Amino acid sequence: MNAGIILAGGKGERLSSDIPKQFIEIEGQPLINYALSVFNECNDIDLICVVVDEKYRAILNGEYVFAEPGISRQHSILNGLCALKAHSPSYVVVHDAARPLVTETDICGCIKGAKGYDGATPGLPVTDTTYQSTDGKTITKALNRDELFAGQTPECYDFKKYLALNESLSDSELSKVRGSSEVAVNYGMQIAICKGNLDNFKITTNTDLERFKSIVRKSETI
Ligand code: CTP
Ligand code: MG
Repeated sequence: MNAGIILAGGKGERLSSDIPKQFIEIEGQPLINYALSVFNECNDIDLICVVVDEKYRAILNGEYVFAEPGISRQHSILNGLCALKAHSPSYVVVHDAARPLVTETDICGCIKGAKGYDGATPGLPVTDTTYQSTDGKTITKALNRDELFAGQTPECYDFKKYLALNESLSDSELSKVRGSSEVAVNYGMQIAICKGNLDNFKITTNTDLERFKSIVRKSETI
């Protein structure tokens, strides 16, 4: 049995809107429902936990286990994992509600990629020359892009191992996490890199939102 966790507990501060980005209505649907529909229709997902504030639950299509948002993204993940404990799934697939263009192939791909490892995360090879700047003003060094991947969701983890390690972290450790697989790797889990999907971009800024809107409108006129 595999479970999904859809993360919808953020505030969307990098996008100017009066409601968090995942609830903005686009062509008649709150943004979150786009990813939820794909998870609901995916044969490899048996149960879905949505990490979302109570006041937004009524707008969601479908039947879910719910969890309360946490103070950081990783706290939200921990809340989702705890809500799924009673169902003891084999794998858990963590996904950002802010990535509405996820596909069934992405979900199945990360579950398949996790076999033989403790988990899998989609990585897009970095194609631009990449520099590090420690002060944000001058270049410290150029990085070897052959070793660099941009991480995405959905990410898949061995449920028991990922739950146990997240439960072992303090509040401040959870708050410092920059990506769901960072914590897994730091605690000795073997995380494979599976195929990323350029179209599965995250809505972070208003420009991303406009890009998504134009994709939805175009697909509706075909
Ligand atoms: N998220 C969450 N709980 C948090 C923070 C983030 O569930 N405490 C979710 C967001 O709702 C989003 C996903 O994690 O679907 C990816 O995070 P991000 O794009 O950073 O969203 P926000 O934190 O909402 O945006 P911002 O960082 O601009 O405030
Ligand atoms: Mg954030």
